[in-house]
Order: sequence, then C-alpha cells, then structure tokens
Amino acid sequence: MKIVVALVLLVVISLVFHWWSPWWMTPVASNWGNIDTTINITLYITAVVFVAVNLFMAWAIFRYRHNPSRRSHYEPENKKLEIWLTVITTVGVAAMLAPGLVVWADFVNVPENADEVEVVGEQWQWSYRLPGVDGVLGEVDSRYVKQDNPFGMSPNDPAGGDDVLVSSNELHLPIDRPVKLLLRSKDVLHNFAVPQFRVKMDLVPGMVTYVWLTPTRTGKFDILCMELCGIAHYTMRGYVVVDQQEDFDSWLAQQQTWSDMQAIPPGDPIAGKASFATCAACHGQQGEGNIAMNAPSLAVLPPWYIARQIEHFKRGIRGASEADEFGRQMAPMANMLIDDSAIRNVAAYIGTLEPAPTKGTISGDPEKGAAHFTTCGTCHGAQAQGNYALQAPRLAGQDDWYLKRQLQNFRLGVRGAEKQDTYGHQMVLMARSLSNEQSVDDLLAYLNTL
Ligand code: CUA
Repeated sequence: MKIVVALVLLVVISLVFHWWSPWWMTPVASNWGNIDTTINITLYITAVVFVAVNLFMAWAIFRYRHNPSRRSHYEPENKKLEIWLTVITTVGVAAMLAPGLVVWADFVNVPENADEVEVVGEQWQWSYRLPGVDGVLGEVDSRYVKQDNPFGMSPNDPAGGDDVLVSSNELHLPIDRPVKLLLRSKDVLHNFAVPQFRVKMDLVPGMVTYVWLTPTRTGKFDILCMELCGIAHYTMRGYVVVDQQEDFDSWLAQQQTWSDMQAIPPGDPIAGKASFATCAACHGQQGEGNIAMNAPSLAVLPPWYIARQIEHFKRGIRGASEADEFGRQMAPMANMLIDDSAIRNVAAYIGTLEPAPTKGTISGDPEKGAAHFTTCGTCHGAQAQGNYALQAPRLAGQDDWYLKRQLQNFRLGVRGAEKQDTYGHQMVLMARSLSNEQSVDDLLAYLNTL
C-alpha cells in the first residue's frame, strides 16, 4: 500500500512541479519558437505516458495485492493487447520525432538575405568578425594566426581589409534581420549556445559550422560554451546584444577593421621612456617594483599585458572598486597617458627593461604549491613564463606580495568583477578554487622557485 501511495504522489508532485516550477524556458528571443513547440509536444507525450504507466502500476499493485486465497493465472501471449500497444507506441514516437524533422529542415536552410557574421571560439574566449562594407568575409587560415593577427586573416585576400574584427567577447546584432553565424574554432571543440535564441551548435577545429536565426527582441543574452573544452571551460562566456538598427550601426562604426588594425604602428620605446619617468617614481627606475610603495615589478610583464592593464585602469575596468586601495591610485596615473599610442610606447619601453631577481617575502610549502600550480600552469605556462595566446601574463619573477593581493582581490571580486574584464573574470573563478590562505602561500612559495 505504501508503494501505491508513493507512485500516486510521484505523479501528482511531478505534475504540480511542472505547472508551478520557477525553472522554465526563458522567453524566446529569436524566430525559433518552433523549437519550443517541439519540446512541448515531446513533454506532453512523455507526460501522458508517465502518468498512464505509473497510475496503471499503482492500480495493478493495489488490485492484485497479495491474498492467500487467490491464485495467479498464466497468460504469456495476448495478440490484441500487443497490437494495441505497438500501434500506440509507434504513433507516440512518430509524433515526437516528426515535428523535429520539420523544424530541422528550416534550421539548416539559411534564408538568402541573411547577413553573415563569424564567431570564433578558442580556449577560453569568443571573438567575432563581420564582413564590412563589401559584405564579404575575407579568407582566413590558422597558419596566419600571430600576435598581431589573432583572426588569422590572409594577407593575399583584399576582401578581408574592411572586415570588422571584434576582439571583445560582446557581439551586437540588429533586431529583425536574419543572420547566419559561421562558427570557427582555433583549437579544440567548443559549442556556441544562446538559450534565449534556442540555438546551439558545435565548433569543430578544421571546419566551419553554422546556425542561423532572426533576433526578435532587444536585450543582452549570454553566450555559453556547451562543450567541455578544458580546465577553464566554465569561464568561456560571451554576450550577444540585440540592438535596434541605429544602435547597432553606431556600435559597428566604433569597431576596428583589419586595415585599421594593420595601420597601428608598433610601440616606440624611445618615445615611451619619457612617460615612464612617472611610473618609475613608484615602480622603480628599472621597473623592478617597490614593496614600500605597493608597486609591483613591471619589468617581468609583457608589453601587451601592460598596455591592456593601463587601458583598463583608464576606463575604470580595473581599480574602480572602493576596496581596491592601490588599484585606485593607478587610475589617475594611467589617465596621464593621453592616447593609445602613448600607452603602446610606454609598454614598449617597459618591454626593454631587464627583470631583477625577485626577493621572496612569503613562506609556504613549495611542494604543496606545485600541485596548486598545475591549474595556473595551464594558462600561465609550465614555468609561469606567460602565454600570449591565452592572454596569461608571466608570473615567474613577479613579487609574491603583489600576486597574493591580486589573488585575494580576484577572489573577493575586487578585481575582475567588471564584465568587460574578460580575463580578469576568468581569474575570479580560478582564484576561488584556492581554498584557503595556506594554499595561496604554498603556491607563491612554489612560484618563487621558478
Ligand atoms: Cu569552449 Cu567549453
């Protein structure tokens, strides 16, 4: 009898949960409402089967419960019942599959007037390419990928010059225009998914896959990577913002084209030396760092990282938090660098400075620290030498007291909480995997040995 009650309760609670659950599909933001219809059809059919089977089971247990005066009777075959069950099952399965086939036919047939946008996935970030005024995406190849050519643009294809390259993790799309998203991976399998668009597709290295959709409502939606693609897979987030046409146009006008990018002159260390005098007041003449001024070593850091951090300080992406006492001091300093070329020049000058050997200030167990470092090493390199491709700066030779403070800032969300700080945001999630202060000290003790 207990089992009968349990089965009936299971059915009742499941139905109640279904109707009153707060966890339901988010309102659709694309033309793919049909996908919801197919999901609903499947849910209704499986619900009818679920209710029927469980209630029948409860009834059978009750009706044929143990009774010493009753004998069971043996009936191995029942043609009529088997035919009925086969027909009902066939109709049920066909009803679940057929609508999916209809929707899939739409899903793989892109309308002729669809705009093309390329989505590039790599460990662990998203970037985007739009075709520019000629409406044609230039040729790309992973062989061309370099520090100053992250998209792998072909030098031989003139159609690529006006391609708009979006290195941020935020893509904008105009409302009510069909768009074909071409999906390309630079390294391993990823998966592009925007729940509100109801689209989801693998990115496969060596081929270009696609999805198409028409955004039907403005807003900002999360792009999730839905393929386990390595240690920081869960940090691989992006955003798609659906704009009214005029907002989209003004966003587009601010983006950089491949020609713009090629026209940027490299940083000039000689021009940068004069600006560095201000930095040297705290960070030292050789950028060696100064614990008394809470200024870390700059000489160990690569120019691309220095440039990005200065830009983040200028734009309030880093050092804007009330709790970031020392980061806040950097904002006015960064503002003294008038423009991007001043930033590039001073970063280039810092790149010419020889790092001084670091003096460890933290004691911990380097052997235990080595185990914690395995995670860090995935991005920052086995010798903590840094890795441009993953935008991970050098850690070896950096002041341990500074790294300790940054790890704490990341963990508390004092640094990296700003959504535009893609890599800082990844570090927040990574820093939280260090369970306590002792593991941080052990890690830094190990770093001091590198
Ligand atoms: Cu990319 Cu998971």
